[in-house]
Amino acid sequence: MEKLLIFGGTSLRGEVTISGAKNSALPIMASTILAPGIHNLKRIPRLKDVFTMSELIRRMGGTVEFNELCKIDTSNINKFEASYDLVKTMRASILVLGPLVARFGKAKVSLPGGCAIGARPVNLHLKGLEKMGAKISLQEGYIIARASRLVGTKIYFDIPTVTGTENLMMAATLAKGTTIIENAAKEPEVVDLANYLILMGAKIEGAGTSVIQIEGVDNLTPCQEYEIIPDRIETGTFIAIAGATGGDILLKGCKVEHIDAIVLKMKDAGIVFKETKDGLRVIGPKKLQAVDIKTMPYPGFPTDMQAQFMAMMTVANGTSVIKETIFENRFMHVAELRRMGADITVEGNTATVRGVKRLKGAPVMATDLRASASLVIAGLIAEGETVIDRIYHLDRGYEELDKKLIQLGAKIRRIK
Ligand code: EPU
Repeated sequence: MEKLLIFGGTSLRGEVTISGAKNSALPIMASTILAPGIHNLKRIPRLKDVFTMSELIRRMGGTVEFNELCKIDTSNINKFEASYDLVKTMRASILVLGPLVARFGKAKVSLPGGCAIGARPVNLHLKGLEKMGAKISLQEGYIIARASRLVGTKIYFDIPTVTGTENLMMAATLAKGTTIIENAAKEPEVVDLANYLILMGAKIEGAGTSVIQIEGVDNLTPCQEYEIIPDRIETGTFIAIAGATGGDILLKGCKVEHIDAIVLKMKDAGIVFKETKDGLRVIGPKKLQAVDIKTMPYPGFPTDMQAQFMAMMTVANGTSVIKETIFENRFMHVAELRRMGADITVEGNTATVRGVKRLKGAPVMATDLRASASLVIAGLIAEGETVIDRIYHLDRGYEELDKKLIQLGAKIRRIK
């Protein structure tokens, strides 16, 4: 198993290009199932979860090739299954459920199990599909869904679920009649998916607001080429890296309008931003100031940035209160940060971080994707050597993070 070895204490400087958004790439790749033919997707990041989604499509009879573009051919899909061995490595595999039922009238998708950050049920995805007329049963750990043709309906989400909104929006594109999703997720990745679906011929209005209306059509066709949005969480992670290391990093290719909440909180912490024609320049202060955050659905502060923000706050001036409201168990990084000398207490969904002078390098263990990113940040600011174990979590969602960091002057190395 690979580990990351980091020698902390260097201010990171230079330029970095932000990759395509993982959480856009996954639903957009799944959406290709809806339209038989060749899809050409641009800026798909080369990371583990994307390869898992590729494998899912290949096992169904499609082909996926990576050159400059990601080329997916869904003409010959003839198996409608997502097996346990793939779903257990990536919960987002559930995104193939809506497209499969919508196009083929049947799907067998392994029910995702629990996860390090919370129970993460998919009841809202299933309830929505049932409301659209699908017959759903659970057999030996698999979701079996059938429908001759889905029918448009009104769906209200108790919680604005991101992949739930995406799954049902995809399913509704080929349903008979109009579907209205209320209390829909408003994340930029939902909008990106809607934009691709619209280019394929779907009739969708309201993506990016809490009410999405989809008028079903008889079929969809692949569009010429589509470029997905840059990753706002990777962008935020590099902002935290510049902030924590007192660095000066130019982020190229990011979309500032997707990271308002992150930028505002980072500014409060003392980070300076300059928008230039080449990108967003981020300059870390000599000493960070403590800032409170509360994670919220978009446009609130993203839960996917909570762990990285906390790593920054471990060495800030003062006490920061961090509330996690999306996932019930997303503080797994706290125990690891404490091993590096952070002063953090957790009560329920609230972590109180009292800034210390410096962290000290230590062997630590990554528990999930964003927790791993927070440990990388901690390692970069710690005195001495940090070894992060189980970095396969990091490779699931960041494209070549260690290479990008080396480019910025970090002393970081992959070891076996
Ligand atoms: N929920 C339910 N029932 C459902 C669906 C969701 O109770 O049927 C609950 C969840 O348990 C959670 C809340 O609703 O408490 C919100 O979860 P959501 O469904 O929005 O999360 P998701 O769609 O499974 C996506 C991202 C996550 C990100 C969350 C929240 C993808 C592929 N994944 O997950 O990304 O944390 O939205 O923004 O888009 C990551 O990239 O590290 C990551 C975990």
